Amino acid sequence: MGTVKPEVAVGCPRVLIRFLVVLAGTAALLAVLAGTAAPTAAAGPSQEDETCLACHGTPGLSLTLPGGESVSVSVDSALLRQSVHGSALACATCHPDHTRYPHPPLIARTLRDYRVERSEVCKTCHSQQADEFAGSVHGRALVMGFPDVPTCTSCHGAHDVMRASSPAFRNNTPQLCGSCHGNPEIMARYGLRPVYEAYTREFHGVTTALYKLTKPYSPTPAAICYDCHGVHDIKDTEDPAAPVARRNILTTCRRCHPTAGRFFASAWTEHKTPGPDASPLVWYVQIFYRVLIPAVLGFLAVLTVLDLSRWAGDRLKGGRA
Ligand code: HEC
Ligand code: HEC
Ligand code: HEC
Ligand code: HEC
Ligand code: HEC
Ligand code: HEC
Ligand code: HEC
Repeated sequence: MGTVKPEVAVGCPRVLIRFLVVLAGTAALLAVLAGTAAPTAAAGPSQEDETCLACHGTPGLSLTLPGGESVSVSVDSALLRQSVHGSALACATCHPDHTRYPHPPLIARTLRDYRVERSEVCKTCHSQQADEFAGSVHGRALVMGFPDVPTCTSCHGAHDVMRASSPAFRNNTPQLCGSCHGNPEIMARYGLRPVYEAYTREFHGVTTALYKLTKPYSPTPAAICYDCHGVHDIKDTEDPAAPVARRNILTTCRRCHPTAGRFFASAWTEHKTPGPDASPLVWYVQIFYRVLIPAVLGFLAVLTVLDLSRWAGDRLKGGRA
């Protein structure tokens, strides 16, 4: 009973205190809101984008292309805001023809054609990269209509473009190029070797994989694809102007190996899977082991079976005797 009384006694002031706390909290919140009103608005979607997001912010919206493929048209505006374009670009900056609904009819029939068509918009602001790309082995094949070469968005994305100089982007580049250059089927169509796997096994590739795994915030110092081949201006490796052409390769290596001698690059076997022509010694050693190990294991297995059957035979004989 004695415990109830004090409770009731302090009841009134407690309500008062609670009220004061709520009042103070509200005042503080208002002050914070007033102080940060502008940045808060800038971090969220602009009013202009809100009109698009009224529809495109809904999950589960999709579009069926004339060729039959379906693509989601629900857009995660948070992804766009975190991208390098952030709040600098509005939806309509990249999609100027979409300010009214119904939107203009699509020209592209396939998803591939659709993406190639839409990536044209990147060129309006990044003309230097676009010009370089147009003259590259990828860019020229793209114009000719080959379906397996990258466009701007294959490498950078569309709504989630990140800073290209960031360590994460650098360390992930071999895998990005490898998504095509590691695919034997795609590469065979162009008479090229799928070089990615060989890269992951050599020193530069191993170091890069380690950085990606253990130091994602540091750029790998080892050579990645574009240190040797260039980025937007990648050339056919047979082109005498390519940075990997015989005449230029030593200059390319010397950017990181300044003391490399005349024969440094000629000792290089990076993209070559060992064979009778490339790295024959490594190849013969591999063959030797491929034959030797199964042979030894097989021999041991035969010995074991013989031994077991003799042991079983002895037991049987022993049992009968
Ligand atoms: C009334 C709802 C609505 C509004 C508002 C709207 N859209 Fe769409 N949008 C759609 C639907 C539904 C589709 C799927 C294809 C279709 O029906 O046209 C689509 C498709 C798209 C596509 C993919 C097809 C293409 O033509 O490339 C883009 C890009 C697009 N919208 C951008 C925008 C932008 C940018 C805005 C704002 C300026 C916007 N939309 C406003 C409903 C809307
Ligand atoms: C930096 C330019 C850029 C901005 C900004 C941008 N888009 Fe896109 N958008 C693209 C490109 C390029 C594609 C083509 C898709 C691809 O290549 O993956 C695309 C595709 C789309 C599609 C078709 C579905 C898809 O993902 O392929 C819709 C819908 C769309 N955008 C809506 C929007 C909305 C809504 C906004 C604003 C919140 C917006 N976009 C902002 C460049 C942009
Ligand atoms: C309306 C102009 C505009 C369009 C269209 C545009 N960008 Fe950008 N882009 C910019 C600006 C401005 C920046 C710089 C942002 C910054 O540095 O903060 C930028 C930055 C970038 C960066 C990072 C640059 C760096 O230094 O690492 C990449 C990559 C990029 N854009 C790729 C694209 C791609 C891919 C597209 C097409 C989907 C595209 N941009 C469309 C204006 C544009
Ligand atoms: C094969 C992949 C690939 C394609 C295709 C590609 N890029 Fe890049 N891009 C990269 C890489 C990798 C870097 C980083 C280069 C560096 O840090 O030295 C980069 C860097 C950039 C940058 C940052 C500034 C610079 O030059 O380093 C911009 C902007 C850019 N790309 C825009 C584009 C545009 C626009 C297109 C299409 C015309 C395009 N990219 C096509 C891989 C690609
Ligand atoms: C979307 C797939 C794709 C991506 C991603 C890609 N490539 Fe390619 N690349 C190709 C195709 C396909 C060819 C063959 C083009 C041709 O022969 O017309 C090619 C050609 C090349 C060649 C010329 C080979 C020769 O001697 O003819 C080099 C070098 C090259 N790519 C390097 C790279 C690098 C480096 C990257 C990453 C920065 C990259 N590629 C990303 C598909 C891709
Ligand atoms: C240390 C420099 C170096 C690095 C790193 C490098 N390459 Fe190469 N690459 C070369 C040289 C030199 C050649 C030409 C000699 C040869 O074919 O082995 C070549 C050849 C190629 C070819 C032509 C293959 C063919 O069948 O003719 C492609 C494609 C290629 N590289 C893509 C890549 C990709 C993708 C990466 C990253 C995963 C990469 N390269 C990393 C130097 C390099
Ligand atoms: C972007 C810088 C860069 C470029 C370009 C480069 N390398 Fe390297 N290379 C490194 C780094 C860093 C190491 C040490 C870490 C490792 O083993 O990956 C290395 C290691 C090596 C090694 C192992 C032995 C040693 O010296 O540590 C050889 C061999 C080598 N590189 C050959 C080449 C050749 C040949 C070329 C030109 C075709 C080349 N590199 C281009 C950065 C580079």
